[in-house]
Amino acid sequence: MSETAKLIFGDKTIEMPVITGSEGEKALDISRLRGDTGLITMDDGYMNTGSCTSNVTFLDGEKGILRYRGYPIEQLAEKATFLEVSYLLIYGELPDKEQFEIFRNNVVRHTMIHEDLKRLYDGFPKDSHPMAILSSMICTLSGYYNDSSDPLNPRHREISMTRLLSKTPTIAAYSHKKSIGQPFVYPRNSLSYVGNFLNMMFSVPAEDYEVDPLVEKALDLLLILHADHEQNCSTSTVRLVGSSRANLYATIASGICALWGPLHGGANQAVIDMLEIIRDEGGDVNKFVQLAKDKNSTFRLMGFGHRVYKNFDPRAVIIKKACDDVLRKMGKQDPLLDIARKLEEAALTDSYFVDRKLYPNVDFYSGIIYRAIGIPTEMFTVMFAMGRMPGWIAQWKEMIENPNTKIGRPRQVFTGAQSRNYVEMGKR
Ligand code: CMC
Repeated sequence: MSETAKLIFGDKTIEMPVITGSEGEKALDISRLRGDTGLITMDDGYMNTGSCTSNVTFLDGEKGILRYRGYPIEQLAEKATFLEVSYLLIYGELPDKEQFEIFRNNVVRHTMIHEDLKRLYDGFPKDSHPMAILSSMICTLSGYYNDSSDPLNPRHREISMTRLLSKTPTIAAYSHKKSIGQPFVYPRNSLSYVGNFLNMMFSVPAEDYEVDPLVEKALDLLLILHADHEQNCSTSTVRLVGSSRANLYATIASGICALWGPLHGGANQAVIDMLEIIRDEGGDVNKFVQLAKDKNSTFRLMGFGHRVYKNFDPRAVIIKKACDDVLRKMGKQDPLLDIARKLEEAALTDSYFVDRKLYPNVDFYSGIIYRAIGIPTEMFTVMFAMGRMPGWIAQWKEMIENPNTKIGRPRQVFTGAQSRNYVEMGKR
């Protein structure tokens, strides 16, 4: 017999079905709540609210578990490539050789952007944030593919998903080139997904550029670790906007905007900004730990804390190790890494952070790797967006292909003025 829960309100008792997920998570199905009782639920920040059922990504914040389609993040990080993981997220299974080749060829064939689109970069000031450029350009793609962006058409869906995966690195690299005044470098389809991005970022017509396999691998790993994270702020935005049946380019552009905020993906840039301030002020990490605890200050330790992880962030564990490896193999030292380590140690031994279960998250060490491989700080959140692309796409695909999907439309409890009569301006 299926489980139910009872709610007593006034003289009414209603029974609500309990939904159980494949990992044993339970949820109350409140879909009849308003109809039966007139009540709605209130849940600031959706801390207790499930917005969908999903087969894509599982995470257990208490145990520090993260799995894409059932595969532990640790295994994927060690053995898979980002494109393979993209296929897994979008289509649900790891590709065999033939499936992967077809997928890779499709992605590779769409890496160029329309020449007219390149002219749009001229309209941005030199110091535009690359996230402003990325979100605008991704949304603008819809103008170029008007004839093939109907979310209800399976063929249109396929081509839109492929174009987004293919063109995001090109658009991202061009935004960097624009900011430093260098010519755009066309994609090279003989290179790997990440190799092609690095070539577009760092090569110049004046000299040869060779992709460093160490850098290629490090970046591929970072993209895998960012590829999906179930119903976070940007993914929920993607699902909400997509539920209105907006085209995929507009939908993903909204996710990119949500990611930009410093409490979400923008934290990776904010971490480096914070570490630089600590360095410039003499390196006293304890001062900043105290400041983060001060309720009169708005300062927070960036890269610390997570809505879901209350034990450790498994991505942060992998990144911390990769950070040490990459810097050692590249023979680089970064004083910010020492400050980050000291800051982590100081916070993890402080009862404020221990009691609130605040641990380093994915953004705490990722910036140190990006710096080591030459990615400028303003580009960090763009890198996150590149990594998250297959996750957004997979979640959108799952949502749009579900015949039960309804437009997302929360309710509210109104607390403003009650009905009153309009007063002419002269009499106010
Ligand atoms: N530094 C200092 N105090 C913190 C921090 C922090 N980084 N994070 C949380 N707290 C405190 C917060 O003040 C609150 O204290 P109290 O109970 O005394 O009021 C308590 O911990 C709970 O915090 P919250 O803000 O209610 O928790 P949340 O789940 O709403 O927020 C968070 C999660 C990630 C937004 C938050 O931890 C934060 O602002 N962290 C810094 C920004 C950051 O690193 N974001 C990246 C998140 S991971 C990547 C991603 O998802 O994009």
